[in-house]
Amino acid sequence: MTTPPRKASGLEPDRETIESWLRTFADAALAQLDALPVASAAGCVGPEGAAIAKSVSRPIPEEPYGGGARELAALVTRAAEAALNTIGPGYLAYIPGGGLPTSAIASLVADLLNRYTGLVPAAPGLTRLESDVLRWLANEFGYGPAAAGLLTSGGSLSQLAAMVTARHVHFGDVAVPADARAYTSSQAHRSVAKALRLAGHGSDALRAIAVDARWRMDPHVLADAVRHDRANGLRPFLVVAAAGTTNTGAIDPLPAIADVCREHGLWLHVDGAYGGAFVLCREGREALRGIERADSITFDPHKGFFLPYGTGALLVREGAALRRAHRDEADYLQDLELESHSGGDMSPAEYGPELSRPFRGLGLWLPLMLHGARAFREALAEKLALARSLHAGLARIPGIEIVDAPQLSIVPFRARRAPGEPLAAWNARNEAWMDAINGCGHVLLSSTLLPSPEGQLFTLRGCILSFRTHADRIEALLADAAATLPTATQFTAENAEDAGSRR
Ligand SMILES: Cc1ncc(COP(=O)(O)O)c(C=O)c1O
Repeated sequence: MTTPPRKASGLEPDRETIESWLRTFADAALAQLDALPVASAAGCVGPEGAAIAKSVSRPIPEEPYGGGARELAALVTRAAEAALNTIGPGYLAYIPGGGLPTSAIASLVADLLNRYTGLVPAAPGLTRLESDVLRWLANEFGYGPAAAGLLTSGGSLSQLAAMVTARHVHFGDVAVPADARAYTSSQAHRSVAKALRLAGHGSDALRAIAVDARWRMDPHVLADAVRHDRANGLRPFLVVAAAGTTNTGAIDPLPAIADVCREHGLWLHVDGAYGGAFVLCREGREALRGIERADSITFDPHKGFFLPYGTGALLVREGAALRRAHRDEADYLQDLELESHSGGDMSPAEYGPELSRPFRGLGLWLPLMLHGARAFREALAEKLALARSLHAGLARIPGIEIVDAPQLSIVPFRARRAPGEPLAAWNARNEAWMDAINGCGHVLLSSTLLPSPEGQLFTLRGCILSFRTHADRIEALLADAAATLPTATQFTAENAEDAGSRR
């Protein structure tokens, strides 16, 4: 049967038009990638970004936009300029994402095919590709054949699915028990508390456990808190440990925490959203020893696997528990005969909160196939090595205090406090120093506040996680840091001058 030529109309443009749009938008996006080596690390936000935002805003037209695809591509490019430059090699702020082009290609293909991949019988071939990746991942994390995996939209949703599963295992299919208690470190990511709240628990359900001098959860304090709650008639059910905190990259002592969980019959969830991917390289696997004892693990391919935003992952050691907590049935799905046609593969809709979903599996599968797993292992090992060299370089600069040696790829540091320097002045000096480093344009650092007996300490942090970051950026950061570090005397004098000129 020959395919009749398609008439271009409305929502069905002809092939030639689609091709030309693809080329136009791909060219615009690729030009951004070409410019990365010389682009400012920061990107354009703040008042300048707000002005750009205003300039790109257009009313939604009733007819096709008059300026055509080229003008629209230019508009999108301009809009993207008003953003943190998260894909650049100098982006060391927050937790860098990535934006592997091979994964972007996969997303385009997945969206063009737009097959329904929530249930295996609806697309057994595509869901097999996703299952293949998830089984491979579970194995990398040290899980056995009973494990199940779920690709989510990100770490926050993975935490939620893990917590709902832990609760289901402990309490069954009942309303949220008011006496249920969960434990995490005082350095945990906010998504832990948020997920628990979204799962229906009150804020008193979560205990913040104290950390040691390296910002890791203290397992003795944890065990005491669990005993204390039990003695008071409460029902502990969940511990969330970090495999790389967002603030400093701290890894909670996983084997000791797993022992506490075993002794007290608690579900151990590990938040490896940032750090989990490092199990792929030898050194990272050693640092994360004990992660395989977790009942569930969050890790984010859109962080440690360098994927574009929108792909998180949850792995559960006994996959059946994840399925029991999420599976549902509906008369209108009876044609898909779930049990008989799934061939042992996992239907994502049975293992998580979504029914319809984008086909995230291809975004992981295609890069792994095109680059090979080794390329990821090597890139992750390189990030750990870069963090070590940043740490060593900063330690050589007089006047810098290293807050902690890198446990993974985050290096927290600050200007050393001068004798008698008031806390507020010291914090302000560190903030000004970070702005000065960022102002050089080679890297973008972000900051955090770390608690001390005297108050919160402004702390700079460099997080090395982009596949595009290499030694040249670390060298540039070290040079910029040394050149811009203000002494307390200089900083006080400059501030006095500024205040004087404002008067
Ligand atoms: C340690 C940690 N956990 C969880 C999250 C939440 O992940 P997402 O932003 O993908 O929801 C983050 C985000 O940075 C994180 O760093």
